[in-house]
Amino acid sequence: MEAVKEITVEDLNPGAFIEEKAGEIAALVGAGTAINALSGGVDSSVVTMLGHKALGPKLKTYFIDNGLMRKDEPMRIAALFKGLGVKVEIVDARDNFFKALKGLTDPEEKREAITQTFYKDVFGNLVKESQSKYLLQGTILTDIDETVAGIKRQHNVFEQLGIDPQEAFGYKIIEPVVQLRKNGVRKIGEALGLPEAIFNRMPFPGPALAARVIGEATSERIEIVRTATVIIEEELAGTKAFQYMAILHQDRVTGMREGKRDFGLQIEIRCWDSIDARRATPTRLSYEILEKLSERMTTEVPGVVSVTYNITTKPPSTMEAI
Ligand code: XMP
Repeated sequence: MEAVKEITVEDLNPGAFIEEKAGEIAALVGAGTAINALSGGVDSSVVTMLGHKALGPKLKTYFIDNGLMRKDEPMRIAALFKGLGVKVEIVDARDNFFKALKGLTDPEEKREAITQTFYKDVFGNLVKESQSKYLLQGTILTDIDETVAGIKRQHNVFEQLGIDPQEAFGYKIIEPVVQLRKNGVRKIGEALGLPEAIFNRMPFPGPALAARVIGEATSERIEIVRTATVIIEEELAGTKAFQYMAILHQDRVTGMREGKRDFGLQIEIRCWDSIDARRATPTRLSYEILEKLSERMTTEVPGVVSVTYNITTKPPSTMEAI
């Protein structure tokens, strides 16, 4: 298998790249149709616009509501893309994902369950219904690097692990931005006319909020981390950080509420400075911001009695907790 050839942001000519990739997609799909999943992240948004440019109505775009997304995300993203002329169909697959995640606590098992549910269960059916032979997706080079290095199984990497999607799921996968890293993808997004709120959007992992729940990702525990995520995204929006997140820990700790013992939940906050997610350092947030976060997390997120801030660099940490 050939190694993927990187295109650095310095070497990237957005106009030429877009023309070349749109041409390649159109030639591969030919008279057929393709489908893709939009999550609202930078990578899948860019691939949606590229696919739309290449295929027009021959591309069918779905937003898979896996129950693990941020608050109001499915509706908000579908509406935004409608404004850009792209029709997005929301697929309610919440039950499929929570069933698959039931009882799982190991990080790689959780990632694998999400992968299988997404590609085999949900997409397998959509492909059959639509009779498409191709799935377009926004794998980037960092996803491949980390999967091959055995650090984290990124949910969207197959070929490099010796998995043939055609055999495993019944369709081929096209990855138009696989030679780029995040900064390159942002440049393409801008050139494609995406709004800045999208092309400069903070990265968000494929396994979504399940990557931020240590231990079992039940709908109740996802809801806790979803509420914490609203707070962190409001409070840290003004920072120039690469990415920030709230993580729900599995262990409980003793706290006190209204003079009584409360064996409660712990939220860990991470906020990263990084160029391309390969290395990262914690942002030096002010104590005022940290105190505000602690105050809001313990009053607005039910059951939280402890809030911590991660001060470890990547490596040896990774950015997400699982
Ligand atoms: P880590 O935790 O590996 O994260 O240091 C590096 C960057 O990748 C994002 N991330 C993912 N993105 N699928 C994705 O598309 C995944 O499975 C995944 N896991 C982590 C993470 O949010 C960070 O920006």
